Amino acid sequence: MKTILTLLFAIIFSTVFSQQKSFKPGAIWPDNNGVHINAHGGGILFHKGIYYWYGEHKVAGKNGGLAMVGVSCYSSRDLYNWRDEGTALKVNEIDSLNDIAKGCILERAKVIYNAKTKKYVMWFHLDLKGKNYDAARSGVAVSDNPTGPFTFVNSFRPNAGYWPVNVQPFHKKPVASTVKEKYCGGKGCLPAPPDSLNILGRDFKGGQMARDMNLFVDDDGSAYHIYSSEENSTVHISKLTDDYLSYSGQYFRVFSERYMEGAVLFKRKSKYYIIASDCTGWAPNAARSAVADQIFGTWTELGNPCVGEGSDLTFKSQSTFVLPVQGKKDTFIFMGDRWADKNLIDSRHIWLPIKFNEKGNPILEWKDEWSL
Ligand code: DGJ
Repeated sequence: MKTILTLLFAIIFSTVFSQQKSFKPGAIWPDNNGVHINAHGGGILFHKGIYYWYGEHKVAGKNGGLAMVGVSCYSSRDLYNWRDEGTALKVNEIDSLNDIAKGCILERAKVIYNAKTKKYVMWFHLDLKGKNYDAARSGVAVSDNPTGPFTFVNSFRPNAGYWPVNVQPFHKKPVASTVKEKYCGGKGCLPAPPDSLNILGRDFKGGQMARDMNLFVDDDGSAYHIYSSEENSTVHISKLTDDYLSYSGQYFRVFSERYMEGAVLFKRKSKYYIIASDCTGWAPNAARSAVADQIFGTWTELGNPCVGEGSDLTFKSQSTFVLPVQGKKDTFIFMGDRWADKNLIDSRHIWLPIKFNEKGNPILEWKDEWSL
C-alpha cells in the first residue's frame, strides 16, 4: 500500500510541478495547476519580459462552441510553462441581452498594448446569444493590466459607410435583391456574378461582416485588424484608430472569394506574410500563405506552407497566431488549434517552428517534440 501511495504521489508531483522544457504539439499541455491550457483560438502579447496568452475558455460538452466563461489569460517567461491568470474578460452572466451575454459566441480574442493610452486593448469576434453566426461583429474590451479584468467597450460591424481603398466600380452599383436575402453561409450559395461579388455593397451602410480575426501592430505603432468578411468569402485588413479602439475607415480587401479563415498576419525582413486556412467549420484543411511588400497589397498567394506527411490538413490544425520569439533572431512560432469538435475543451495546441526557404517563404513541418 505504502509503495502504491508513494508511486501515486510521485506521478502527481511530477505531472503538476515538473518544469516543461519542450513543445509537444497535440499533447495535453498542463498549466501550473496541471490542467490543460484552456485558451483556444488564441494569441500572445509580449510585454515587459512576460508572454500573455489569451484565448477562448471552452467548456466540456454540448455548449463547447458557446462562450460560457469568457477569455482566459495565461502568463509565461519561457513559453513552455504557463501560469493560469484566470478569466481576463468575463461574459455577462446577469443580462441575457448584453452583447457579451453568457452563451454568446466569442472567438479568437487577441490583445495589443497601446503605448499612448497605456491601455491593453482586446478585440474579438462576437456573435450574439441565440443568433448563431449571423451578427458577425467585432468586440472591443480594455484593461489597465495585461491579465485583466478587461471591461467590455462596444461591439460593431466594421467600416460602416466606408469603401475599401481597393473598391471596384461595380461595388458602388445597386445591389441585387438576391444578395440581400438571408445568406445560406457556404461557398456554393452566392448568386451568379457580378452580384456574387457584391456582399461588400450589401453591407456598405450597416458595416462589413467580421468573423475569424487577428491583430497586427506594425513597426510604426499602427495597428491592423484582419478578419474574414463578406460571408467569409474575402479577407479585410482594416487600420485601427490611434487608440486602437475603433476603425480608422481605411481598409483593404484581399483574397476575394477564396474563403479564408484563421488569418494571421506577421512581418519578417520588411515583408508582410499571411497564413490562413480554408473555410470548413471545425474540420481541418490545407493552409494557405501569402506575401506582400505593403500591408495594403499587392498580396501574392504562396500556397500551402506545410510540407511532409499531414501537410494537406495543416497537421490536423487551423492557424490562430504567429509569435515572433523575443530575443531570438528570426524565430517565429506557428500556433494552431486542433479542434475537438465533439468536446472543444479537449482541443489541442499545435505549436510548430516556422522555417523560411531561400525565397523567404514560410515553411511548416511536423515535429513530435521540439524546443527553441
Ligand atoms: C472555423 C473558425 O475558424 C472557428 O473559429 C470557428 O468559428 C468555427 N469555424 C466554427 O465552426
